[in-house]
Amino acid sequence: MKRTASLFAAGLSIQQALAQVNVPPAFEVGVKWQIIIQNTIDIKAPLQPSDAVVWDLDLYHVARNPGIVEYLRTNVPNAILVCYFNAGLAQESDCDYDSRWRNSGLLGNVYDPDEPEFSDERWINIKNQTARDWIKRRITLANDLGCDAVDPDNIDGYLNDEDGANGTGWNLAEADYVAFVTDMAAHAHALTTKRGFTLLIGQKNAPELVGPVGGLLDFAVLEDCKTLNDDEDFTFCRDFQPYVAAGKPVFSIEYPSTLGNAETGACSATGASDAQYAASCDTSQGNAGFSTALKIQGGVGELNGCTQYCSGEAPGTGVVVTATDPELDGSPCPPEASIRILPTVFSFFEVGIPLRATLRTEFGIKEPKQPADKEAETWSH
Ligand SMILES: *[C@@H]1O[C@H](CO)[C@@H](O)[C@H](O)[C@H]1NC(C)=O
Ligand SMILES: *[C@@H]1O[C@H](CO)[C@@H](O)[C@H](O)[C@H]1NC(C)=O
Repeated sequence: MKRTASLFAAGLSIQQALAQVNVPPAFEVGVKWQIIIQNTIDIKAPLQPSDAVVWDLDLYHVARNPGIVEYLRTNVPNAILVCYFNAGLAQESDCDYDSRWRNSGLLGNVYDPDEPEFSDERWINIKNQTARDWIKRRITLANDLGCDAVDPDNIDGYLNDEDGANGTGWNLAEADYVAFVTDMAAHAHALTTKRGFTLLIGQKNAPELVGPVGGLLDFAVLEDCKTLNDDEDFTFCRDFQPYVAAGKPVFSIEYPSTLGNAETGACSATGASDAQYAASCDTSQGNAGFSTALKIQGGVGELNGCTQYCSGEAPGTGVVVTATDPELDGSPCPPEASIRILPTVFSFFEVGIPLRATLRTEFGIKEPKQPADKEAETWSH
C-alpha cells in the first residue's frame, strides 16, 4: 500500500504544521495545579486545594472511580482534568494489563533493576504497531471518561538503551520515541473532549524531545528539573522555556526531602525546610513561569496528597493535604463494554486523520465549532 503510506506521511506533516488545538480558557501559563497519582483522591472529603484548576490524576484511578470527574467539576467549575498514564511501560495495576499486555510478547525488561519498587513495570516495545494502538486506546479511554488532557509518562526509555545498554530490552532510540509521541499527539488531537475542546497531550520530562516534538504538544510536566536531588548537575528547566513562550503551561514538581515522611506519607505542617523551600521555589533557574508543586520525596508519600505551593508566600506556608483513599485504588476496572472501543482494524481510521487535515488545508473545510459558552484559545502547531 505504497500510496496510502505516502499520503499518510504527507498528511501527517501538514497536520503537524496546521492542526488547530482548542484549549480551555483556564489552561494558562502559571495556572495552579495538583498531581495525585500514588493513591486515589477521596471524593467524600472536601477538595483541597479548591483553587487548583489543573488536576493531574491517574487514568486508571479515574477509570475505576468515575465519580471523580463529577466531583472535580462540582468543586472547581473550570477544572482541567489531566489523566496520567504510563505510556512507556505496562504494569499490573493497569486495567488493560491482563487482557492485552501480560502475554503479548510486547513487554521487555523491568523499569530499573536497581529500583525493585517498580519491578512490576516493564518497558513496552513502542516500535510495534499493536503496542501503539493499545496505547492509543488508553488515550481514547481518557477522552471517554471526561479527561481534558493526557500526561503520558516514561517517554524517555532511550536513555536506558544508550551506548548499546539495551536496558529496555528493545534497543529503543530517541527517534523511536519521537515517532511514538508524534503518533500519540495526532491521536489525542483528533479527539474532542466532553467539554468540546481538543484532548490535550503533554510532554513528561525528556528535555531532548522539546526540539523534535515540543511544538506538537500542549504542556509539559517536569520532575526535579533543577536536579536538587541529584549529585550530577544536569538541570533541564530552561529547555522547557519554549513552552512558556508559546503560552503553554509547564507543571513542575520538586521533591524537597524535608516536606514529609516518605514511609508514612505524613506531611510536615510547616512544609519543607526554609533552605529547601527557597531552592525549590527560586524562579531564576530557567523555570520562570512554571506552575510548581512541592511533593514528598519517595515512598508512599510521593505524588500523593501532601503538597506545598510556592505561590510567592513565605517558607512554612502553602502546605495543603489533598485527601486520598488507598482502598479506592483497587476498585474494579470498568468492563470493556462500558467504554467505547475502537475497531481493531484501527490503522484504517488513523489514515483518515491526516487525510482530513489535508482536505482542511486544501479546500478550506471549516474547523469544528468551538463551544458557544466558552472563549476558547487556540494554538497552531
Ligand atoms: C507486534 O507485536 C505483535 C504481538 O506480539 C505481533 O504479533 C506483531 O507481529 C508485531 N508486529 C510487528 C510489525 O513486529
Ligand atoms: C536486548 O535485550 C533483549 C531482552 O533481554 C534481548 O532479547 C535482545 O536480544 C537484546 N537485543 C540486543 C540487540 O542486544
